[in-house]
Amino acid sequence: MAQFHYINHACFTITSGGKTFLFDPFLDGNPEGLKPADIKCDYIFVSHAHWDHIADAYEIAKANNALIISTAEIANQAAENGCEAHGMHLGGTFMFPFGKVRIALAYHGSGIAGGHACGFVVDLYGTKVYFAGDTALYGDMALLQRQDAFDYAIIPIGGNYTMDPKDAAIACEFLKAKYVIPIHYNTWHPIAQDPEAFKADVEANTASKVIIVKPSETIEI
Ligand code: NI
Ligand code: MN
Repeated sequence: MAQFHYINHACFTITSGGKTFLFDPFLDGNPEGLKPADIKCDYIFVSHAHWDHIADAYEIAKANNALIISTAEIANQAAENGCEAHGMHLGGTFMFPFGKVRIALAYHGSGIAGGHACGFVVDLYGTKVYFAGDTALYGDMALLQRQDAFDYAIIPIGGNYTMDPKDAAIACEFLKAKYVIPIHYNTWHPIAQDPEAFKADVEANTASKVIIVKPSETIEI
């Protein structure tokens, strides 16, 4: 078993195998009032360098001596900022002490010169998750489950910057995850969405179950 803790927006932790994995660190406006010094983690995944995904990454990484796993451009910048970092790139896989990581495509800005946004398919001591990062819908999502099987898909539904609920529901048809956790919505007005409508749509049209997790909540996964 592992624990998924939703901090806010696209920021969450998964604790598995005695380690804590932090994704897209951005603590602004989180309902628990968590500050970077409150976060304890061992590894940090960064999908791209937009502020709402990387804001607190370097401070938290340095305080925890945590390893940042990201694309090469972000990993290089992290190292320049005094962090431990492992650079990868689109389509790349690597076996870490906790398990395999694949860098998935994401159709979105990178926020850094020469870079590319990404998603991650990760095996965290047996907890298998796809985190989409920020992305448009794309057909090759259908390949991911075949490349590396995962149980949970954590995907944006906010629209405006990423897939909206309708596109995200089509993504669920491609992803074939047992469980889907929607994120990256209701943080700000342009990405206001109804997750209950998304859940009803997905569960009517796919075999996936949608788990709506509110910021500050923890669930067992
Ligand atoms: Ni973005
Ligand atoms: Mn974003």
